[in-house]
Amino acid sequence: MACCHHYALAEGGDAVFSVDISAITFGPGCLAEIGDHARNLGLKRIALFTDSRLAALEHFDIVRRSLAQAGVDVAVYQDVKVEPTDASFAEATRFAAEGRFDGYVSLGGGSVIDTAKAANLYSTYPAELAAYVNAPLGEGRAVPGPLKPHIACPTTSGTGAECTGISIFDWVARGVKTGIVSRRLRPTLALIDPTTTYTLPASVVAASGFDVLSHALESYTALPHTCRARPERPSQRPMSQGANPWSDFGCEKALQLTGAYLERAVRDAADREARDGMMWAATLAGIAFGNAGVHLPHGMAYAVAGGVREFRAPGYPQDEPMVPHGMSVIVNSPAVFRFTADACPDRHLDAARWLGAETGGAASADAGEIVAQRLIELMRRADIPNGVGGVGYGESDIDTLTAGAWAQQRLVRNAPKPVEATHLSELFRAAMRYW
Ligand SMILES: [Fe+2]
Repeated sequence: MACCHHYALAEGGDAVFSVDISAITFGPGCLAEIGDHARNLGLKRIALFTDSRLAALEHFDIVRRSLAQAGVDVAVYQDVKVEPTDASFAEATRFAAEGRFDGYVSLGGGSVIDTAKAANLYSTYPAELAAYVNAPLGEGRAVPGPLKPHIACPTTSGTGAECTGISIFDWVARGVKTGIVSRRLRPTLALIDPTTTYTLPASVVAASGFDVLSHALESYTALPHTCRARPERPSQRPMSQGANPWSDFGCEKALQLTGAYLERAVRDAADREARDGMMWAATLAGIAFGNAGVHLPHGMAYAVAGGVREFRAPGYPQDEPMVPHGMSVIVNSPAVFRFTADACPDRHLDAARWLGAETGGAASADAGEIVAQRLIELMRRADIPNGVGGVGYGESDIDTLTAGAWAQQRLVRNAPKPVEATHLSELFRAAMRYW
């Protein structure tokens, strides 16, 4: 059962935890340093991954110029698909294999960074797509050795992909969204320049900001690592190892920053303190969830994003229906944290307080409601749709949504209490509408 006080060792549990992080360079203007960083890594010929929208922006020119000045030969790949698929990964891998590059640079959101990770992997150690994809959907084979250097430059304050060894894609042939998870996928250097977010539309700052918030809140409330079964071999200890004292630090600060800055960053593009603060929150939350793992809101989000019918979000490409990642996550979160609060109420109250809620004198039994109400308040202020119903679903979709979320066992098992498929159905029902 739930064992949240808090790192007491459960029978058969894992007393040990690991910390893996990318090297990080953070600050306004640091994109222009990329040429020197690439040269320092010994790179002479790199593939620069981006998407067609970003390729037209100033940040792309800054990166290209800096690499050229450092004498690095650059081949540009700008066909990255927002929400990558098996087909778009294969296309990017072909480009990587044919180009014989000695390293990679990605400039973009999570889709771009994840595509560069996959292209680096499959061009270095060629295999069928299924080989390295999470079991049981894929074979879950270990990545055989180190990959080529990868400098990841995020342009949204959201996914944290620049700090994680996770690559997510829509496996269209199998009808599921899933991923590849390996420490080997983690970028060599995260080059994080908050000025890239200054021109983002409010809706993108909102969706990516709620992704950050949920990374921190899920990692902080995940099953403690001491309650997860000890691996047979230490090298098999998962990156999603559960809550641990290292990740707790990042979660606390990321939640405080999000509580202070998310709404301001959405409302006013000129509020640079807020946009810089959200970028730092995204970095801290990325490091935290890269070492702890997220749980139910993200597990449910795969189903919400994967089954989209007509929904289109302002500020995003309109050619295909799409629920932006952070939006597909946060519409589940108030229902989930009402459900998980009894497993570790103190942690839910901590998180609510860091997000700006009044928790003085609150009883443990109130923890779930207090955190849910604060989330709902922030969602409304940032014009997030009203629950799973607000992005186009109804009661008749609950069985399909449940099946899609239940398939994400890596995430379901990282929740702080045991979860059955029937719980997921109840959670989707509770998440349909909040106000
Ligand atoms: Fe996320």
